[in-house]
Amino acid sequence: MCGIVGAVAQRDIAEILIEGLRRLEYRGYDSAGLAVVDSQGHMARVRRVGKVQKLAEAVEAEPLTGGTGIAHTRWATHGEPSEANAHPHVSEYVSVVHNGIIENHEPLREILMERGYRFVSETDTEVIAHLVHWELQQGGSLLDVVQRVIPQLRGAYGTVVMDSRDPGVLVAARSGSPLVIGRGMGENFIASDQLALLPVTRRFQFLEEGDVVEVTRRSVTIFDKQGNPAMRPEIESQVQYDAGDKGAYRHYMQKEIYEQPQAIKNTLAGRFSHGQIDLSELGPQADDMLARVQHVQIIACGTSYHSGMVARYWFESLAGVPCDVEIASEFRYRKSAVRPGSLIITLSQSGETADTLAALRLSKELGYLGSLAVCNVAGSSLVRESDLALMTKAGTEIGVASTKAFTTQLTVLLMLVARLGHLKGMNESIEHEIVHALQALPARIEQMLSLDKSIEPLAEGFSDKHHALFLGRGDQYPIAMEGALKLKEISYIHAEAYAAGELKHGPLALIDADMPVIVVAPNNELLEKLKSNIEEVRARGGLLYVFADQDAGFSDSEGMKIIPLPHVEEIVAPIFYTVPLQLLAYHVALIKGTDVDQPRNLAKSVTVE
Ligand code: AGP
Ligand code: GLU
Repeated sequence: MCGIVGAVAQRDIAEILIEGLRRLEYRGYDSAGLAVVDSQGHMARVRRVGKVQKLAEAVEAEPLTGGTGIAHTRWATHGEPSEANAHPHVSEYVSVVHNGIIENHEPLREILMERGYRFVSETDTEVIAHLVHWELQQGGSLLDVVQRVIPQLRGAYGTVVMDSRDPGVLVAARSGSPLVIGRGMGENFIASDQLALLPVTRRFQFLEEGDVVEVTRRSVTIFDKQGNPAMRPEIESQVQYDAGDKGAYRHYMQKEIYEQPQAIKNTLAGRFSHGQIDLSELGPQADDMLARVQHVQIIACGTSYHSGMVARYWFESLAGVPCDVEIASEFRYRKSAVRPGSLIITLSQSGETADTLAALRLSKELGYLGSLAVCNVAGSSLVRESDLALMTKAGTEIGVASTKAFTTQLTVLLMLVARLGHLKGMNESIEHEIVHALQALPARIEQMLSLDKSIEPLAEGFSDKHHALFLGRGDQYPIAMEGALKLKEISYIHAEAYAAGELKHGPLALIDADMPVIVVAPNNELLEKLKSNIEEVRARGGLLYVFADQDAGFSDSEGMKIIPLPHVEEIVAPIFYTVPLQLLAYHVALIKGTDVDQPRNLAKSVTVE
């Protein structure tokens, strides 16, 4: 969600800022802007509604000179996407970019108006610019002033401030939204995500919650929440920006769907030994903690929540460990009772999702045994703040609609279930079955992808539809939910998922010829039950698309299209059946002509509540 890039250098930095914004585009935004100050203290600002390319063209037409600057992609929370609301916001010589929300912006606005400030935008951000300006007039350096302003702000945010009278200095504060410092040679940078800075440096310092930092060409001075000088370790980033090129694919989402066999292979690599799952990367103390686990509490949002729902079936049926799953935004605002020996597991592609992070932080006060993050971004807040972390090795995921992050999360979770089960005396044959199924998985998914051509024509059937229903049972119910989420995110067709047994308790009333019903039907012990549910739909004139095991005994008939799929090991069937639903959503979106990689209103990483 939204992006921040800042630079203090001797060279002109407008190009660097724009390239940084391009690399954050995938996160979703509606407008972009930058402000640059030259050594004489002249500040120039350019803002545009729409894509970063429009901003780049404007800057190309009238090049900006100057070595200090801040840039932003905005995902509007307060005020429509417009040029006036785009960042940076300015108060005379002060300019500000900001991610997140200032919750008390209304009372602050009133105070500032009484002091004579005139507001030119509808944003909450503008109060920061005027507050900094006001405080600068009371005296002190930009750093002193930001330290005085921070306690006046409520909410979750990351912000970078610049004073054009003092070129060569940026001051930034992190409170709920990530910020990272990029160290250069005689120049320094700041961004909301290291990806933005990879063209200029690989040396990073991640700011911690509550940090305020002063960045100049030659120095980076960090203060913690209490205002004490703080050291933040410098790391050499190994992150690959492998997103630059879509290759032969039309969209990142399509590329990422096709990358799944390799992403799963990477996720499995190095995690087996002697025919068993080996998670010794968790460190020597991890087994002690895992052996004491009596209950697992999973917390996540969106697609990651769906992988948690699948994992619940696995934790209970394979490892015999009771498991609950909850959406982070619900968990964080209710009083929950903690089970004895409960391990909190957070799931997140980005590791920066505001609700998931807040839930993790809350859990630390509640007496959980410990926390484990399953995450795709090394160095993310979630990873740094958890006791244990298992990385998915999906590589950078650019498409807003999550695909390979989901299937690799499931892969890691199944390995964790096996490890936990092992420590809890799970039958050895189950562990062998899991190991075998996981090792076969990349090839199975390749097989699945080769059926893309037979899935593509199905999309036609959705082009004039406004609704769709997804059905599954058992561990395929969350897969139906994930299929529905993919369809609604990128094709804007309203889609709902139901546990198939729940159909007759209400949703059956919706069935008619205008309601396509998509069913996931592997050949498992629930197949016969599912067949009855399918008949219930057929009897009411519904239009069925059944993704079924080739041996499940289905055949095409009036109102029912069967998509036969190769047989797959039952344990990994949820991972396998995800893929055709991703492909279906993708092809429907192509027909609808939507912005597949950056669907309207959505952001890749939801860093605000
Ligand atoms: C997935 O397609 C979505 N865009 C969204 O639901 C996402 O999964 C959710 O915001 C959680 O993100 P995270 O995995 O980065 O925490
Ligand atoms: N709340 C601010 C606005 O609406 C910042 C939004 C963002 O994070 O991009 O301008």
